[in-house]
Amino acid sequence: MMIVPGPASTELGEAVARHLGAEAYPVDHRLFPDGESYIRFNVDVKGETVILVQTTAPDPDRKLVQLLVMARTAWDLGARRVIACVPYLAYMRQDKRFLEGEALSFDVVLSLMEDSGVDDLLVVDLHSEESLRMVQPRHRIRVHTLSAIPVIALYLKEHGYDGAYSLSPDVGRKDIVEAASRVMGGGFAFFEKIRDRRTGETTMKVKDLDVGGRKAVVFDDIISSGGTMARAIKGLKAQGAVRVAAACTHALFMGGAEDRLRDAGADLILATDTVDSDHSVVSVAGLLADRLRSL
Ligand code: R5P
Repeated sequence: MMIVPGPASTELGEAVARHLGAEAYPVDHRLFPDGESYIRFNVDVKGETVILVQTTAPDPDRKLVQLLVMARTAWDLGARRVIACVPYLAYMRQDKRFLEGEALSFDVVLSLMEDSGVDDLLVVDLHSEESLRMVQPRHRIRVHTLSAIPVIALYLKEHGYDGAYSLSPDVGRKDIVEAASRVMGGGFAFFEKIRDRRTGETTMKVKDLDVGGRKAVVFDDIISSGGTMARAIKGLKAQGAVRVAAACTHALFMGGAEDRLRDAGADLILATDTVDSDHSVVSVAGLLADRLRSL
């Protein structure tokens, strides 16, 4: 088993290798003046099981192309098996044809990986397991998923949120808060998010909860603009929650997200290192290593 971190995940790839007691061989990488990526392997991968570690945010298109280039090169250099360990998988949210004519980008990304020689794909907190079940039969590539929510919840439990209420901003993510509540205790509930498919705008149905005087954590897979999380935090604070943490697996934090969360009343903002950010304090390296051992 050979760990080859890509340019987007050098540190995380090295941490995964340490957990596996293996050596990491980061690829050489630079950008050509026109913005294209140069990639070169530093190790002979012939006959090896190669684990490429490369997240795909920020700058998803570039990082995805780098991953495809790495995969095809590993295959071309004679790797026996290519495993793409992609902590955050770009385009996973575009997994249904919501409006006629829309691209099923998630499906396209799986095709591209498969055509580039990827045998197995490992992703943390995939946006929708249900969509994966629909799309998987169209592909040979084996997709494996794992959730970082229990390790995030454990961190929170050990950092002042033991017994806190777990809330999901969306009924579709009920599994997340059930998992969190198993670790922190304190129970769980969800609000309901409604999205206008044409404009992308969302609204939230905030229901009455028994959170007065309690601590609460809002869990989501992704924080992007922070709008979803901010609405949920405001809903909890309006109902008397004393401390509210905003926790997610993938910290995309686009344009002003952090300010939006703070303005809404977030007392703590927490994420994993699937995507680098100032709040990515919970590492998924151990989780990835454990799962990779079993592939
Ligand atoms: C969407 O379905 C995801 O689970 C997140 O709720 C969403 O990506 C968060 O986006 P934003 O931070 O822009 O509201």
